Amino acid sequence: MAFLLASCQTITLKATLRTAGHRVRSAALFNEKDEPLASETKSDVEETVRRFYDDYGWVQQETEVGETSLFRRFSAAHDSLYYPAVERRTASCFDNLTGKLLIAGGGDMPDGHVAIAARFPSVTCIDISEKAIGLARDKLGPDGHYITGSILDMDIPDDQFDAVFCAHVIYHIDQSLQQKAVRQLVRVTRPGGRVVIIYRNPNSLPSELMQLRRRAYDFLKLSRTPDNTDIASFGMHGVPQLYDFTHPLDWWKQFCDDCNVNLRPWHIMGCDHEGHLLKSEAIARAAYRLFSWFENSYPDRAVRLWHYPIAILTKKNRPQS
Ligand SMILES: C[S@@+](CC[C@H](N)C(=O)[O-])C[C@H]1O[C@@H](n2cnc3c(N)ncnc32)[C@H](O)[C@@H]1O
Repeated sequence: MAFLLASCQTITLKATLRTAGHRVRSAALFNEKDEPLASETKSDVEETVRRFYDDYGWVQQETEVGETSLFRRFSAAHDSLYYPAVERRTASCFDNLTGKLLIAGGGDMPDGHVAIAARFPSVTCIDISEKAIGLARDKLGPDGHYITGSILDMDIPDDQFDAVFCAHVIYHIDQSLQQKAVRQLVRVTRPGGRVVIIYRNPNSLPSELMQLRRRAYDFLKLSRTPDNTDIASFGMHGVPQLYDFTHPLDWWKQFCDDCNVNLRPWHIMGCDHEGHLLKSEAIARAAYRLFSWFENSYPDRAVRLWHYPIAILTKKNRPQS
């Protein structure tokens, strides 16, 4: 499997590059001595993330919600040449499924989520952010089921859903609890059903290029161009702190006991990478054409190089006793 080939470096909690078909870099949660918070602080992490989304991420800033202004600003080339195929690829993960869908951490329910929801006669949304649940209700209407709460504490019986969709959520959960979160999503899925998770790759090509760029700037003693979504923005200028942590790709192997696990490429980079690496529309147009060709021709290699993988977990049937 593709992920077996993935390299297994550990990543630091601090200043990891983040994104989400959109997204950027964010601050992790630290104590006063600048040490990462320990895993016992789950409720602190969850509360930090909830506050970020309730107070900023899903709140209208100037012309758009905070999440969009930080993480979803891409070039026109991206939006017209690349992203439509990303959305189609995501939707195709739900082919041949119908019945009950769970959307976990759907946030403001972007169009791609709404299109996936439309394939299922029954949709349940769970999110820790009350604002997110309000936006989901506005978009999906009163027939949906809405829960304000955490994936980690779902009071839902086993084997309930035919499919689960969870995009850009797991890496905002405490690093030591991400496994539990994925197990919870699998638990509520019926045997044969599918859990589709958009996650991140800490060793992606864009991350490596950004590191090289940083080293080159430091070596040449050049000052870096200020980044309007820089880590310095988090916790300041009205932008609350946010937490994220990403495990390496072969972390997904552990779920092979309960599921058939398949990793596919989702998206090459976040909007911060794009801002630094593809400096003009002309470069972006050429680059996105190349990325599209590469991910279609060599999906297994793209999984290892791209910043966002899709993890597709098909729950195995339990052995008859
Ligand atoms: C980055 S946003 C993703 C929104 C949307 N899925 C997307 O792809 O644009 C993360 C969302 O996950 C929610 N979230 C974070 N941790 C959660 C948890 N433990 N349980 C449920 N929702 C959570 C946040 O409140 C936020 O709405």
